[in-house]
Order: sequence, then C-alpha cells, then structure tokens
Amino acid sequence: MSAVRVTLKLATSLDGRIALSDGTSQWITGPQARARSHEMRAAHDGVLVGVGTALADDPLLTARTVPPPARQPVRIVADSEGRTPPHSRMVRSVHLGRVIVAVARGSHEELHAAGVEVWNCGGRDGRVAPSELVRRAEVEGLASLMIEGGGQLAAAFLREGLVDQLAWFRAPILIGGDGLPAVAALGLRRMEDAPRWRHAATERIGDDTLDTYLKN
Ligand SMILES: NC(=O)c1ccc[n+]([C@@H]2O[C@H](COP(=O)([O-])OP(=O)(O)OC[C@H]3O[C@@H](n4cnc5c(N)ncnc54)[C@H](OP(=O)(O)O)[C@@H]3O)[C@@H](O)[C@H]2O)c1
Repeated sequence: MSAVRVTLKLATSLDGRIALSDGTSQWITGPQARARSHEMRAAHDGVLVGVGTALADDPLLTARTVPPPARQPVRIVADSEGRTPPHSRMVRSVHLGRVIVAVARGSHEELHAAGVEVWNCGGRDGRVAPSELVRRAEVEGLASLMIEGGGQLAAAFLREGLVDQLAWFRAPILIGGDGLPAVAALGLRRMEDAPRWRHAATERIGDDTLDTYLKN
C-alpha cells in the first residue's frame, strides 16, 4: 500500500456530468464551493489533472485562499506525450511553485527549459501509469494528492484502486447525457466489481452539496 493519500475531487451536476458536450465546465458549482476547493488544494501536497483538462481549461491550479497558503501544492499534469503547452498558465507560473509534467517517455526539453520538472511514469500501455505516478510522488515526499479531473484520469486511478477518498461537490443542475461523465469507462463486467464507498459526511456549501466518501 502506498503512503500517499489520494483524494478524487469531483464537481458535477446532479446527474454526474463535469462539462457540457463542448467541454464547457465553468462554472458548475457556485463561488462558495469553489472557495472550498481552493482550501482543499492548500491542504494537499500535490494537485493533479489530466492533459485533457490542462488543454481544455488552461488551469493555474494554485490554491487561492484568503490569506494565501504558506506553500503552494505541487501542480502535476498526467501527460503521456508531454503535450502541455509551454505557454500555458501553469507553466508560465512556475515561480509560484513546482510544476510537474508526468510523461510516459521522452525528455521534453522545451518543458525543462521553461522550469517544469518532467517525471517519467510510463506504463505498459504507453501511457502514464497511475501507480508509477503515485510511487514517484511518494519518493518525492508528497503525502497527499488531489485529483481534479477530468473523467479519463479519474477512471484510470479508480481502475487501479488508487483512490482513497471522494470529495464530491454536486450542484443543483442537470446537464444531461450529452455532457461529459465525471468518470470515464471502468470496463466493469460484474456489479460486485464496482468500486464501493462508505459515505462519511455531507455538507451544504451555498447552493451546492459536498459529500465525502471513503474507500470501503
Ligand atoms: N467539473 C469538473 O470538476 C471538471 C474538472 C476537470 C475537468 N473538467 C472537464 O473535463 C474535460 C476534460 O476531461 P477529459 O476526460 O477529456 O481529460 P482528462 O482526464 O483531464 O485528461 C485525459 C488525458 O490524460 C492523459 N492521461 C495520462 N495518463 C492517462 C491514463 N493512465 N489514463 C487516461 N488518461 C491518461 C491522456 O492523454 P495522453 O494519452 O496524451 O497522456 C488523456 O487523453 C474538460 O472539458 C474539462 O473542462 C471538469
């Protein structure tokens, strides 16, 4: 078992969608829930997104709390081919805190030159292997990671049983089946294989609800 505690944070509609069909996801939840997300970032050693989210949303991924945290979480992109643009907001803000691109192969000199750390975390399928990424985070002394999406990266970590906790923000809206699911395919064939969670807490935050679930 890894010493790194992994939280999957989701911000969805009532029907479990994280974006419209065109990828628009800003904003599903309200300002209070978003402020809480920043506090959650500050409470983790690292925050992680897939390159799909990095390209679609160009997030800064810093913890913008009031007052600001003493130390920013390490920002990580799971990006097998190193497609994270050097001009992205995250890369341009390396002065605010460490930015890591976890790749499957290659040295990605352009990212290095921009001040990004490149971790090699390739798996057998030629993609970033979640277990390798968690192992490297542990070696680097990170005790907690928060995955902030999107659906494909969430599914990859869930398939490997690497998620310890779900922090599920739900907004009182419906997006419908053409929206993007919070969790992409898990490839389950038997209901008993569905990852099961223990409900730990519910909190009302503005118009939204935050449910916390722990691994069963
Ligand atoms: N509402 C919310 O809370 C929220 C949060 C985040 C994102 N979003 C929305 O979600 C959308 C993006 O979601 P997404 O599912 O397309 O992208 P994603 O999960 O952020 O990124 C997917 C990419 O991650 C890379 N990756 C690296 N290792 C992987 C692995 N082992 N398994 C799977 N993927 C791996 C893959 O690209 P490579 O193969 O090139 O590595 C893959 O294409 C955007 O529209 C964004 O706005 C919403």
